[in-house]
Amino acid sequence: MEKQRIATLTLDDGRKLEMPILSGTLGPDVIDIRNLSKLGVFTYDPAFFATASCTSTITFIDGDAGLLYYRGYPIEQLAEKSSFLEVCYLLLNGELPSDEQRTKFVKRVTEHTMVHEQLARFFSGFRRDAHPMAVMVGVVGALSAFYHDSLDITDPDHRDISAMRLIAKVPTIAAMAHKYYTGAPFMYPKNKFSYVENFLYMMFATPADEYVPNPILVRALERIFILHADHEQNASTSTVRLAGSSGANPFACIASGIATLWGPAHGGANEAALMMLEEIGDISRVPEYVQGVKDKKYKLMGFGHRVYKNMDPRASVMRETCYEVLKELKLENNKLFELAMALEKTALSDPYFIERKLYPNVDFYSGIVLRALGIPTNMFTVIFAVARTIGWISQWNEMMGEADHKIGRPRQLYQGSVKRDYPAKGKR
Ligand code: SDX
Repeated sequence: MEKQRIATLTLDDGRKLEMPILSGTLGPDVIDIRNLSKLGVFTYDPAFFATASCTSTITFIDGDAGLLYYRGYPIEQLAEKSSFLEVCYLLLNGELPSDEQRTKFVKRVTEHTMVHEQLARFFSGFRRDAHPMAVMVGVVGALSAFYHDSLDITDPDHRDISAMRLIAKVPTIAAMAHKYYTGAPFMYPKNKFSYVENFLYMMFATPADEYVPNPILVRALERIFILHADHEQNASTSTVRLAGSSGANPFACIASGIATLWGPAHGGANEAALMMLEEIGDISRVPEYVQGVKDKKYKLMGFGHRVYKNMDPRASVMRETCYEVLKELKLENNKLFELAMALEKTALSDPYFIERKLYPNVDFYSGIVLRALGIPTNMFTVIFAVARTIGWISQWNEMMGEADHKIGRPRQLYQGSVKRDYPAKGKR
């Protein structure tokens, strides 16, 4: 039996605490600080640079080596060989499905793609020009007002049907958000289509014409969904876990994840990165723009990552997908793609970025691919949310399945006023 490894903390007043060092199957060890309160002190780690918030078996990232595994499978292999619903099954259940399991899973998801007819009424409360992410937060959150038949989240079957409903209905709501923004009629899902074909159908079909999904767009979007499906304890997933730890309704928890993803430092970066490329406009302006970044006037959107201090493996697959899609759509000399590659080359050779280990992340190229697929810019982060829904659900489900899970409740370093009495009148 291996001897328990110990970290010993010695305070300046001589008090000591021995803390177990725990190892995972991959990645850094952790120091179990749960007994630290015995010394009457807390750890201090704003933005959680050095904090593991949970144990998980779902996704592994090695930021230095640029590795990303879903349940042990490298993202590059899944992006090339798998389908998005197969990856959903993998993330949720821990293993790739057999043919029979996959067929059953796809059928279950397909049968849940329609939304309650009354849900459509929520859209009319939004201005037509509301950002689709605002609509997503509101309408996905509104799902928590339905399905009272399955809200005992301690029941694995209730968690399972909630997962099915979310995987199936979030794309429908996303497409409805786009249709609402454009003033076009909502398109009901069609069971004859695959998951991605159905999403493109609901996004781009109209009642006036037959719609045949373009296989190039389908394959590219399938790969984009796979790349964005999960990513360990990122900001939005941590939000979903924290919301779920209070026992909140799963639909409300996913809405909190959507809200967090919207930020430009997180999932909103794909929209911001494309707008940045359009602002730069021409390769000749790259040096000037990069200088502005180095002068800290603004950040290079789509660059940098809290964990990846090497190329984000998803960015490499995304760049390749970008090239393939542009070639297949005969958009080879796409100015934005050429600009992005020039910007990447300039940044990766500049000491400012090298010293700070800033590399392109998943959001740097995704906007160019999405634009080439005909997805409007304000829907880029919505696409990210559609894909990440399975990651949020899988992580939520993993936590809710733990017998000893507790409500998350961090503490603080208080630096406010010491006790003081209410002043008499005229004394303030
Ligand atoms: C996603 O966490 C995840 O896993 C997220 C995600 C997922 O799948 O869930 O991978 C998806 O959100 C990808 C990240 C998308 N965001 C962007 O592309 C926005 C631009 N990137 C930055 O905002 C930033 O890189 C973060 C937010 C992604 C990471 O920031 P950190 O870890 O807090 O790093 P930091 O701000 O401490 O930066 C360290 C240094 C600083 O410079 P100095 O103060 O040391 O001089 O690097 C600089 C930063 O100013 N820096 C950048 C930069 N990112 C960091 N400088 C210019 N451009 C950038 N993009």
